[in-house]
Amino acid sequence: MDLIFLVPKNYSKTTQLLIDKSKELNINYKVSLLEDVIIETSNEGNRVICNGENILNTRYVFPRIDGKRKNVGMKILSIYELRGVKMPYPSFALEIVHDKFLTSLYLSHYGISVPKTTYARSLESLKDMHYPIILKLLSGSGGKGVMLIENEDALESVISTLQDEKGNEFLVQEYIKKERAEDLRILVSYGKVIGAMKRIAKEGEIRANVKVGGNVVSYEPTPEEEKLALKAAEALNLKICAVDIITSDDGKPYIVEINLNPGIRGLMKATSKDIAKEIMMDVKEEIRG
Ligand SMILES: Nc1ncnc2c1ncn2[C@@H]1O[C@H](COP(=O)(O)OP(=O)(O)OP(=O)(O)O)[C@@H](O)[C@H]1O
Ligand SMILES: [Mg+2]
Repeated sequence: MDLIFLVPKNYSKTTQLLIDKSKELNINYKVSLLEDVIIETSNEGNRVICNGENILNTRYVFPRIDGKRKNVGMKILSIYELRGVKMPYPSFALEIVHDKFLTSLYLSHYGISVPKTTYARSLESLKDMHYPIILKLLSGSGGKGVMLIENEDALESVISTLQDEKGNEFLVQEYIKKERAEDLRILVSYGKVIGAMKRIAKEGEIRANVKVGGNVVSYEPTPEEEKLALKAAEALNLKICAVDIITSDDGKPYIVEINLNPGIRGLMKATSKDIAKEIMMDVKEEIRG
């Protein structure tokens, strides 16, 4: 086998597009459902079984794993990784990118621009902030759990509510001021930018997410934005990923998020480019190489 797609049962339309392109490009592939996979370890070694068949012998494994499945994903990917099977990102990346604070921490370590971010435990640890600030639940996605906080009273009220629920982890972050709230999504594949778009928030909203009314348009990143996205991907050894950037009104870009499982249909529509094909052509090259 050349390629195994490791996907959940109800996989996304993007995943279907990538599978279709593999067929079109004559890649010898197989689709394995995560729900059917059994992993086993013993003195005979590690095994990955799907419907009674050993699926370890492949040149490339393409996971489509979201945050909910990161734990099982890390275990399965570790087995492939130890055998030297190629993949779009290392297993440890699942842990990092699904935690907004760990993402900032790693990127900052590698000298990559991120907004100043504090992993907050209590109000006492958050004295002398420059308001307004952004507060994010670590577990949030699609814009959920991202709030603009105008002053210390508002912060106190939000934190006391959050602390009522056990296990709520959050961070506070420097607010990157923009006349009109927007963010950029840059898709990286094997050391190149293959597409970019801008999400523009609806009037009166600070979150640019499509789920909360954001509007998507095609976008040509500046050389600095491209460099930042490529540097982040390289630092974390990510071959295929989406990098989300906010560029302040005075032109400085900051990475707010990295996505290993990006949907690409919005980007394909915004750019009129066959992004799925470009990705699978890169994967085909890797399989050959
Ligand atoms: N530091 C910031 N300054 C200004 N605006 C921000 C900042 N962080 C986030 N935003 C706005 O809020 C939106 C949502 O934030 P973020 O991307 O961090 O979380 P999310 O989209 O909910 O998470 P995920 O992308 O994992 O689903 C961003 O797209 C951006 O428009
Ligand atoms: Mg986001």
